[in-house]
Amino acid sequence: MRVRLSVNGEEREVDVEPRRHLGDVLREDLGLTGTHLACEQGVCGSCTVALDGRAVRSCLVLAVSCEGREVRTVEGLADGAGAAGLSPLQRAFSAEHALQCGFCTPGFLVLAQAALEQDPSVVDDPERLRRLLTSNLCRCTGYEPIRRAVLRAAGRDPDAPEQPR
Ligand code: FES
Ligand code: FES
Repeated sequence: MRVRLSVNGEEREVDVEPRRHLGDVLREDLGLTGTHLACEQGVCGSCTVALDGRAVRSCLVLAVSCEGREVRTVEGLADGAGAAGLSPLQRAFSAEHALQCGFCTPGFLVLAQAALEQDPSVVDDPERLRRLLTSNLCRCTGYEPIRRAVLRAAGRDPDAPEQPR
């Protein structure tokens, strides 16, 4: 089936078998290999992309259901080449050392970016922020640097004591 969709602001058209998921099509048909696939059953969140502004597991979304929709992948976060083009969230991940092997990082970046755009107050509720970040799996960092990076990107002080709600 022919599917037209917007990917990182560019109109794209692909021929896909109805059984294929969005993550595969992004990587294999569109060459956007920043979206990582691991469990392919909706558990790990490595494959997270934003679909019409909401974070989704691209391994659980059929590509044919994306007709006319807007997809943003990790490649769409930076607005220029090199370190200077990195988004504030990407710079915060670097500053807080929020990655080690980096396999999970594209998923966390897209997850956090979508959450900050939808409701920036998520960072002001420690429990909500914790629930958001633990919805994706990271085997390396212990999550604290990721939490600090998201707070930093949102203009909060990562060292401020948590205020329970
Ligand atoms: Fe999609 Fe793990 S690869 S959730
Ligand atoms: Fe290695 Fe998260 S940095 S899995």
